[in-house]
Amino acid sequence: MPFTVAIDGPAAAGKGTISRAVAAHFGFRHLDTGLLYRATGARVIAGEEPLAAAQALVPEDLDRQGLRTAAVADAASKVAAIPEVRAALLAFQRQFARLGAGAVLDGRDIGTVVCPEAEVKLFVTASPEIRARRRFDELRADGDDTDFETVLADVRARDDRDAGRADAPMRAAEDAVVIDTTELDIDAAVARAVEAVSARYGAV
Ligand code: DC
Repeated sequence: MPFTVAIDGPAAAGKGTISRAVAAHFGFRHLDTGLLYRATGARVIAGEEPLAAAQALVPEDLDRQGLRTAAVADAASKVAAIPEVRAALLAFQRQFARLGAGAVLDGRDIGTVVCPEAEVKLFVTASPEIRARRRFDELRADGDDTDFETVLADVRARDDRDAGRADAPMRAAEDAVVIDTTELDIDAAVARAVEAVSARYGAV
């Protein structure tokens, strides 16, 4: 089994940026597992049944740019609560972790369910208010005229659904290193993550 880094945590805590930076630093492959749920959610919005949608995914579906909207995020969080959907997406994620010199997978249940044997587990989090502020700024930059209270309510609703579901709820693995980015800028957060991986992987 190649070296595996599991990175979990709620939306907009900095997981994606940290995952890409860690993968680039160590030359590992990276899978953003949220895309699998987003692509499934987008197919459900288009009228497919959730399980059939998960089973029908093809690589072309996994384009974050086309899956960024709040409606897709909400649909993703809903299909993610269906155990059969999660089961259908599990093999692909584990297969990804098996290929190459090393892999970074980010999501909600990587350290707890998908790759419980991962050499390094990180849980990247931040306060709901700061995550909503970051998401709000991104949406505004995209030309979306949403208001902050709506974004904060969406962040809280998604956290509650992702952490409250019975199957593979979002939570830090017992052996995860927690990185709270509420008061860390992205460079400092990346440095902490690289340090945690280096401690297990060797050369920086
Ligand atoms: O990371 P993201 O915002 O793209 O994820 C979208 C939704 O997918 C998230 O609200 C919950 C779900 N998800 C999950 O249940 N398990 C994962 N490993 C990744 C995402």
